[in-house]
Amino acid sequence: MRHGHGCGLTVTATATACRKILLSRFAFRKLRQPPPTRRLVSSVQPRHHCYRAATAASSAGAVEQEVQLIRSPELVAQEYVDLSLADKFSEELGHVRIRQHVNPLRSTFMVPAEVPDWNEVYKDPTLPLMVDIGCGSGRFLMWLAKRNPSSKNYLGLEIRRKLAERANYWANDLALNNVHFVFANATVSFKQLISAYPGPFMLVSILCPDPHFKKKYHKRRVVQKPLVESIVDILAPGGQEV
Ligand SMILES: C[S@@+](CC[C@H](N)C(=O)[O-])C[C@H]1O[C@@H](n2cnc3c(N)ncnc32)[C@H](O)[C@@H]1O
Repeated sequence: MRHGHGCGLTVTATATACRKILLSRFAFRKLRQPPPTRRLVSSVQPRHHCYRAATAASSAGAVEQEVQLIRSPELVAQEYVDLSLADKFSEELGHVRIRQHVNPLRSTFMVPAEVPDWNEVYKDPTLPLMVDIGCGSGRFLMWLAKRNPSSKNYLGLEIRRKLAERANYWANDLALNNVHFVFANATVSFKQLISAYPGPFMLVSILCPDPHFKKKYHKRRVVQKPLVESIVDILAPGGQEV
């Protein structure tokens, strides 16, 4: 098992531990991203540019793809547009100032998260569940939830409370009833939370976990033996890939 930036790990029921790389669009972005710029097709250009390009292509009867250099912040902005997330949290939550890292060993993070009422958070809490540990902004799960509205439920666990709150605000605003986010230290709360889910737990992803490079901070890493053992214990037989 690798641990650190640039890796995306999934655990399925058929795997004994974290051994599959989740090649989602988002994970793929992280794996091959050569900072600070990369080449993408014209679909990521500003909207008015895309429109003009599409018109020219159709009148000429040919499809052309322009290649444009795009910077990482622009790509993130495009993801917000794709998910219709732009400006959707500012009114209710105000400015979301987020700490870059937290120390998961702090006593405040040792309190187990409350198990949600699954009937309240999901339309159908018996659907197969995918869990993203350390989900960050939650955009990856929202992206999946939008594409699979009635076949799976998605749960994001995130130790930075404001990120989880904002993600739930977004999910609610987008009327997604198959995705939910819990402010939780996965190391402390994973087993208790997921054991209580009524449906089968089919897949877990851990994308780009904080590497905590210094040896003295390795103990802060989220991917530790007890968590992996809990995952393997609770996964339903016949896990799936996204
Ligand atoms: C490098 S970020 C990656 C975020 C997201 N998975 C992505 O790929 O964009 C690692 C995330 O894991 C979260 N995290 C770290 N330790 C955690 C823990 N013990 N429980 C839950 N989340 C944790 C951090 O707050 C952060 O959002």
